[in-house]
Amino acid sequence: MKITLSFEQTITDDVSILVDALRASTTITAALNNFNEIIPCFSPEHAFETNKKYNGVLAGERNGAKIEGFDVGNSPKTLEDYKLNDNKPLILTTTNGTRALEKMNSTVLIGSLINAKAVAKKSIAISDNHIDVVMAGRKGKFAIEDFLASGEILFWIKEELNDEYDFKISEYAQSAILARENYDNLKKSFYNSRSGEKLTEMGYKTDIDYCIQKNITDNVAIYENGILKLI
Ligand code: MLT
Repeated sequence: MKITLSFEQTITDDVSILVDALRASTTITAALNNFNEIIPCFSPEHAFETNKKYNGVLAGERNGAKIEGFDVGNSPKTLEDYKLNDNKPLILTTTNGTRALEKMNSTVLIGSLINAKAVAKKSIAISDNHIDVVMAGRKGKFAIEDFLASGEILFWIKEELNDEYDFKISEYAQSAILARENYDNLKKSFYNSRSGEKLTEMGYKTDIDYCIQKNITDNVAIYENGILKLI
């Protein structure tokens, strides 16, 4: 078994775990408490068009802010608590997270700090020979929060594989595991990251508080036929 870490694009056709810790991956994971299906869209226009067919709940952000005409933004806490009285899907578009899905050519799971252990276990259960954790990044650049959340997921993959499997873990992946060791420093890095500062400035600090929680859910989304749903 091979365990790797990548940036923006996956290097396997087996199993990838997409990580956009602030906030898309966390939002998708939390929203599965209330929505059976999440349809990721690559642009606001695509989301409006898709919603004509589904009449769902329109969610998303551009530059962190709720998109005009949408029902909600990209807040994990809001979507976890969103009360619905029928079985509508969530139509979601975000700047980096949902767009990264467009480039995937493997089985894709969605990972974050809030489901790190659960996504690690599921990835092992469905993988044949290679799990690649993919950091979504921010506008084409490295994002420290994705690196640290990936480290937490990789830590759990390593824990789960220990003794039972023969596996090789790349040096890049090992670095992420080492970087996530001190939880207080991890939390500080989330708040001080470019995304963290921007979210705080926009009044979404409570979303960062939510995203830095470790292993609070067993929800794991799988992306299949254009739809995200629980695996
Ligand atoms: C994204 O997909 O780019 C994000 O999650 C950004 C955000 O929610 O602010």
